[in-house]
Amino acid sequence: MNNSGLTPRQIVERLDSHIIGQGEAKRAVAIALRNRWRRQNVPEELADEISPKNIIMIGPTGVGKTEIARRLAKLDNSPFLKVEASKFTEVGYVGRDVESMVRDLVELSVNMIKAEEQENVQAKAAEIAEERLLDLLLPPRPAERKVGEMLDDPQQETIEIPLSEEQVKRQDATREKLRKLLQEGKLDERLVELEVSEARSGPMIEIFSAAGMEDMGLNIKEMLGNMMPQKKKRRNVKVSEAREILAAEEAQKLIDMDKVTKTALDRVEQSGIIFLDEIDKIVGGESQHGPDVSREGVQRDLLPIVEGSNVNTRYGMVRTDHILFIAAGAFSGTKPSDLIPELQGRFPIRVEMDSLGKEEFIRILTEPDNALIRQYTEMMATEGVELTFTDDAVEQIAEVAAIVNERTENIGARRLYTIMETLLDDISFDAPDLEDKKIAINARYVEEKLDNIVEDEDLSRYIL
Ligand SMILES: Nc1ncnc2c1ncn2[C@@H]1O[C@H](COP(=O)(O)OP(=O)(O)OP(=O)(O)O)[C@@H](O)[C@H]1O
Ligand SMILES: [Mg+2]
Repeated sequence: MNNSGLTPRQIVERLDSHIIGQGEAKRAVAIALRNRWRRQNVPEELADEISPKNIIMIGPTGVGKTEIARRLAKLDNSPFLKVEASKFTEVGYVGRDVESMVRDLVELSVNMIKAEEQENVQAKAAEIAEERLLDLLLPPRPAERKVGEMLDDPQQETIEIPLSEEQVKRQDATREKLRKLLQEGKLDERLVELEVSEARSGPMIEIFSAAGMEDMGLNIKEMLGNMMPQKKKRRNVKVSEAREILAAEEAQKLIDMDKVTKTALDRVEQSGIIFLDEIDKIVGGESQHGPDVSREGVQRDLLPIVEGSNVNTRYGMVRTDHILFIAAGAFSGTKPSDLIPELQGRFPIRVEMDSLGKEEFIRILTEPDNALIRQYTEMMATEGVELTFTDDAVEQIAEVAAIVNERTENIGARRLYTIMETLLDDISFDAPDLEDKKIAINARYVEEKLDNIVEDEDLSRYIL
């Protein structure tokens, strides 16, 4: 099973390495995740009765809502889909039923399992690929050569030309020698002729598969794709490339698609997570302008899916009863209680996200595994530039971010991105040409670069 059995405390710890603060939200999602593991371990007749406790995360933009949900899904390999609830109200989506999110989740899960399976058969596929490569490199034994092939007429019978024992031995020895060279990568640059299937050309097919088609449970793209004969072409490729093409082809053959589908459906049902972003955008009565689908209508459409129902997908029926829904929204002018009551009831857990200030920014810049400062230093390192930040520089950056957020729009941690970009613009551009490869960013540098932009509110609106 994919569920890793992490305890809530461990889950929070893992989340801590990417997300600063937001303790309450982390706790809530950690419990939700642990509850799935618990459910899988209670007596079966009860397991069916236990439904997930869906969560609404409330908080301004850029404070880590999406990030928490995304990292959570990664923790236990759950199929994870993020959708904007508001998109179901858009003109282009009129009539597009919200069930499509479940179909998308299944699609995603199938790809996920397929990738996992591919991983599993990789070694075996590589082995077979090697044999096929050797076949290509070493002309086939005369005995296996079909006379028909020689005459270019497939009707002809194979004529066996017996090989002497001596010849066979020699053949085998050559093959082993070649194998050794191959494994050492000495033949990588050689060319072999290989039959490769051309990628099916897309554009025309794309038009047909516009929104709505997949709702019929059909996949037009695939149907058309299968109707048109797959083009094969003989091509000269390098051995190194051929090895990859052949291995991928063999892996494809080794995978049991029925099993993949079954596992994928099962995983969606047992541990799928749907992240419903911008849930606050479907709050409120009928929309004022024109052809939009009514927001309340979307809420009503969501009910059965969140509640638990069967959704037909092209891989089979999926029950949505145990899919975990995490909704998120800023709710600046509205409240969760403005949602229709039935939907409110299906999201029993509410967590408020904290807005971020200078102290959090300092930590976000430096602490997470993927911290921004680290990203920039590593990027510069590829240019041979040793970039360092003094503590007071980091503090200064955080302060500027907090100030700009306060004066203009509060975009949370995303502000750090724009500020870092502006701050390091020159260095980024000049890095390859720099004489002095050691650069220490200190508070003074930050001030010089940013102060006049920050002072001028209009300027900061445009630049930061
Ligand atoms: N608490 C935090 N700790 C670390 N990084 C954060 C935090 N909050 C936000 N970030 C970073 O800021 C970026 C935006 O965060 P995220 O996508 O989670 O915002 P959001 O809350 O979903 O906002 P929105 O309402 O606009 O969707 C991400 O790249 C994330 O890494
Ligand atoms: Mg988000």
